[in-house]
Amino acid sequence: MRTVWWEEGQVKMIDQRRLPLELVVQSFSDYRQVAWAIKEMVIRGAPAIGAAGAYGMVLAAYQSQATARDALLADLAQAKAVLDNARPTAVNLSWGTQRILTTAQEVNTEDLDLLRAILLDEAEALAEEDIEINRRMGQHGLSVIPDNANILHHCNTGSLATVDYGTALGVIRAAHEAGKNIHVWVDETRPRLQGARLTAWELMQEEIPMHLIADNAAGYLMWAGKVDVVLFGADRVAANGDVANKIGTYKLAVVARENGIPVYAVVPTSTIDLSIPSGEHIPIEERGWEEVAKVGDCQIAPDNVPVYNPAFDITPHRYLTGIITEEGIVYPPFDVNLRRVKALAEQRIAERRKTRLAARQAMLKRGK
Ligand code: MRU
Repeated sequence: MRTVWWEEGQVKMIDQRRLPLELVVQSFSDYRQVAWAIKEMVIRGAPAIGAAGAYGMVLAAYQSQATARDALLADLAQAKAVLDNARPTAVNLSWGTQRILTTAQEVNTEDLDLLRAILLDEAEALAEEDIEINRRMGQHGLSVIPDNANILHHCNTGSLATVDYGTALGVIRAAHEAGKNIHVWVDETRPRLQGARLTAWELMQEEIPMHLIADNAAGYLMWAGKVDVVLFGADRVAANGDVANKIGTYKLAVVARENGIPVYAVVPTSTIDLSIPSGEHIPIEERGWEEVAKVGDCQIAPDNVPVYNPAFDITPHRYLTGIITEEGIVYPPFDVNLRRVKALAEQRIAERRKTRLAARQAMLKRGK
């Protein structure tokens, strides 16, 4: 199930706020609307908002009234600032917008129609790569899932959190597809209930055995020997391996360590931010009071209750057994090994991009 795509000059996305009750697709023809959709979590999940950001930049290119390349580049830089500002923690967002801006800067043409077509091509390639990367992580992750495994999963990391297939949920899906007998404990993931609303929905569609649990049940299940491995995604991984992920992840990792249970973060290398040395430098998004004081439309706390609502937490790298990426599983020392996989992935993307850009440019020129 594809979460975000380009169709007839518009960015389309599944409205995740309405799931699982309704499957509604929203259409956007202005990049500012895409920024709004990211902020309001019409689309959410780090890789998904990276792709949405890239498509948002393409919309900005088509919206721009510029008649010269420099003016178009200036409009794109402005759009990037607006899109990046939508949510602060997931580095994939600025990674996605930067990839489109860099492409625009690198393609040296005054033919703005050609340039716009090339930017769309780049966003489509980024989205397709995301799916391929998720499938590769799924295959790498198979080795950490024993047969008959009980897997504890936090938040939503499935098709909905990516362009398709998923990160941590991708590993779960791959294990199921490989015929492993698995069962998933699905954390409800308060306050926005991504586990209850989205992960449960995705797993049920795939007929993967699961039980939804209250977040507070996870510790008891680990203590009782009912969990073999903990899997989650991440919104940003610092250079030392500290991981920012959905609020509640840290608590799970600490309790898992106490009970001798392995813990893996599953992340594409686009989530690794080598410019951030450690977790305390990662910006943590704070969201509105209503997410905590209400469940859906129903208010559960007194009027005017003071609320503090950090949306993410930091899990120090010492609690992670490994980090599963598309380049393989990274083990400690994370500072050295993350750098290695990031370089490998960047080289792969750069080579493919160079070939694609040259081919696309030649094709479009021929067609003129
Ligand atoms: O606030 P959200 O729903 O965007 O948070 C999403 C998560 O925390 C996911 O675990 C993370 O993006 C990794 S999923 C591929």
